[in-house]
Amino acid sequence: MAKSTIYYVCGECGHEELKWSGQCPNCRAWNTMKEMKIERSAARGMSKAAVSSAKAVRASEIPSNVLTRVNFSMPMVEKVLGGGIAQGGLFLFGGDPGVGKSTLLLKIASQVKQKVLYISAEESLEQVKDRAVRIGGNLDNLFFLAESNLDAIVSVIDKEQPILVVVDSIQTVYDPAFPSTAGSLVQVRECTLRLQLLAKQKNISFLIVSHVTKDGNIAGPRMLEHIVDGVFYLEQENEDMRLLRAVKNRFGATTEIAVLQMRSQGIAEVPQPEGIFLVDRVVGVPGAVVTTVAEGSRVILVEIEALVVATVFGYPRRSAVGLHPQRLELILAALERRAKVSLRNFDVFVKATAGFVAREAATDLAVALALVSAQQNKPIPSRWCVFGEVGLLGEIRQPKDASTRKKAAQGLGFNKFVSSKYLSEAIKEVLS
Ligand code: TYD
Ligand code: MG
Repeated sequence: MAKSTIYYVCGECGHEELKWSGQCPNCRAWNTMKEMKIERSAARGMSKAAVSSAKAVRASEIPSNVLTRVNFSMPMVEKVLGGGIAQGGLFLFGGDPGVGKSTLLLKIASQVKQKVLYISAEESLEQVKDRAVRIGGNLDNLFFLAESNLDAIVSVIDKEQPILVVVDSIQTVYDPAFPSTAGSLVQVRECTLRLQLLAKQKNISFLIVSHVTKDGNIAGPRMLEHIVDGVFYLEQENEDMRLLRAVKNRFGATTEIAVLQMRSQGIAEVPQPEGIFLVDRVVGVPGAVVTTVAEGSRVILVEIEALVVATVFGYPRRSAVGLHPQRLELILAALERRAKVSLRNFDVFVKATAGFVAREAATDLAVALALVSAQQNKPIPSRWCVFGEVGLLGEIRQPKDASTRKKAAQGLGFNKFVSSKYLSEAIKEVLS
């Protein structure tokens, strides 16, 4: 008999409880426990048939079929996915609105040589077709469906037997078996579970768009990350640059990234992205220096810019864009105590040209030298590429992958690197 069960799920971590509480017992987030009501037919006690047919298989007797992958002629994106789209895999693509998720997935869909079903419940068929034409996709293998009812979607998948299904987006799909509205926690979770099951049963791959909430989680519930095979984020680095990054991937490493560029004709890979963030660089101005950021197995060069202005009134300002403010504080303290460069009467502004710089401690030295260069009004000669972590004692620690960074920089014409072990010496080495 159908039985309704009420339980509570944390919107942050997906933890389940039978009783409501103001704070999630697992991740300690407040006000995140949401009520879920589920009609579970025979929630307890399986059917006799299911019990008697369940059987364990000896590991050596399982046929070892090599995982096949769907390819789509975007080598960098394929690499992020683990070498193409694993068949039977269900992958989530998150990102802010307007970042280009639909454009990217449509591009992938139109490059696949076999039948692809693109389900859009967000936009009309005409809009999607218009975009597909605009990005120059191949429309012969591409089938569109504007539908949000999951029952209808499953029946179309059964009929069409595509090799790949794109769902844009999971927040607009609903399963009529559950009373809540599309986009609610229950719907997002139940629809994802059902699609995951379908993917495994029919060996169809799914690429699913999921919106990101204000605090940066996919669809609010991080719980989706446990269900799916892979989670990828499309991030905006500057006006037209995008980074595709893996957060989880059952079919590959999560160290690769793809650098993509949004153009009027769709989204395209940047094949040699090392220097892409330096194209607008102004050479010879004090306060600017080039540094390296290691993203996965790739090194990208970015510029750090600093501005130092005498404080006119009150406390000096410290502004960090694209960097952690605490790191800036630490660098300023190290400069004052270890290198005798005091900026306590100056307003300080530091900016990194690409958003991913914040993750790197190896940019410390570049920030320090940009600040000193700005204060002394002396430009850093353009062939320098500066990286290294600055410690509290004013010592410079080279990153483990220093040689990879050097090589990438040399490829772009940078041939001067800091060899000093201490901040005070490095300032002399670069700025004397
Ligand atoms: P979209 O893929 O709709 O973003 P999302 O699905 O993540 O919300 O992309 C939206 C933006 O991309 C929109 O501002 C227009 C721009 N765009 C291009 O620059 N070039 C293109 O070829 C396309 C299709 C969109
Ligand atoms: Mg979209």
